[in-house]
Formats: sequence, C-alpha cells, structure tokens
Amino acid sequence: MIQSENPQSLIAFLRKLRAVRQFRAEKLPQDAIDAILDVARWSGSASNRQHWEIVVIQQRSTLQALAACEGYAKHLAGAALGIILVMAGEPGLEEQETYDEGRLSERLMLAAEAYGIGSCIGWLRGQGVQEAKTLLGIPQERLVRTAISFGYPDEEARRARPKNVHARKPLSEIVHFERYA
Ligand SMILES: Cc1cc2nc3c(=O)[nH]c(=O)nc-3n(C[C@H](O)[C@H](O)[C@H](O)COP(=O)(O)O)c2cc1C
Repeated sequence: MIQSENPQSLIAFLRKLRAVRQFRAEKLPQDAIDAILDVARWSGSASNRQHWEIVVIQQRSTLQALAACEGYAKHLAGAALGIILVMAGEPGLEEQETYDEGRLSERLMLAAEAYGIGSCIGWLRGQGVQEAKTLLGIPQERLVRTAISFGYPDEEARRARPKNVHARKPLSEIVHFERYA
C-alpha cells in the first residue's frame, strides 16, 4: 500500500466527486482516456473475475442515439465520451456482477475526476437495454444497465443547479459504532 504524503488532499478529492451532467463540447485527450481505461482494468472484482467489458463511444450520433434509449441517461447526448458497461451476464453471478459494476463505475468516475473530467452514471431501463444492445452489437446474454457520460464540466450549468438537492445526510444518521442499536 502506498501511504500518501498528503492524505488530506486525497480525501478532499474523494469527497468532491459529484455528478456532472452538462459538458463542454471539447474532446478528451487520448492520454486521459487511456489512463481512465487502465484504472478500469485494475478495478477489483469478485474472485478477480473482471467480468466486464467496456464500450467507449465518442461519435456524437451514437451518443445521441443512446441518450434517446429508454432510461435515465439523457446526459449522454452532450457528453464528449460515453461508456457502456457490459457485464458478462453469467447465470448465477448477477449479485457479484452487480456489485462489481458499482465498483467499476466509481473508479472510472474518480479516474476521470483526476483529469478534471466530469462524469455521471445513467441507467438504461426497460426497452432501453435492448435498444442499446442492438445499437452497439452487444450479445443478448450480457447484462447491460450502466452508461457513464464523461466530459469537461460546463461550469455555468453546474453553478446554476439547485443547491440543496445534492447535500448529504450527516454522519450521525449513517454511522453506528460497535452496535446498530
Ligand atoms: C447506481 C446509480 C445509478 C444512477 N443512475 C443515474 C441515472 O440514471 N441518471 C442520472 O442522471 N444520474 C444517475 N446517477 C447519479 C446520481 O443521481 C448522483 O450520484 C446523485 O444524485 C448524487 O449527486 P451528486 O454526486 O452530484 O451530489 C446514479 C448514481 C448511481 C450511484
């Protein structure tokens, strides 16, 4: 394990990750994309199965088509880059895959944040799953649910968003020491 020389700045970095849904148009540099994908490769998973694959999309027409799929990923339309997580869909392993999908998503977002790139998860739901599979040529048996938008934050849009919507519960409501009750 690497002991950080400045744990406070790393903690502040972890704390400040927030969803970004409005993006500037500019493309992401290739070195940042490569680094983000390599962080994904190193994400931990149940039994180290790495039961995921990643579809990276930068073509505007495909991003817009995905944004139009049923679900909650409309923010893909304006993203510089979108990622669709393709989980293996192995029978009996849905719990593990779902857990690891969350771990992978968060790591992708944090790696992007390290480059000043904003991101937001969006779930495909209902017919949106099939629509996305067809659009991207993903085999039927795979588990597809998570889309993530990436791009440099449109700061103006961020500043304009309601202040209290993104607050968090105080620790006293979340943490129990030694016993739950
Ligand atoms: C499992 C999961 C699913 C999410 N699905 C969506 C979604 O479908 N669409 C969306 O815009 N945001 C989605 N989000 C982002 C959350 O809305 C966001 O993390 C939450 O509102 C906190 O916002 P903040 O990080 O900006 O404070 C999802 C987040 C998670 C962890």
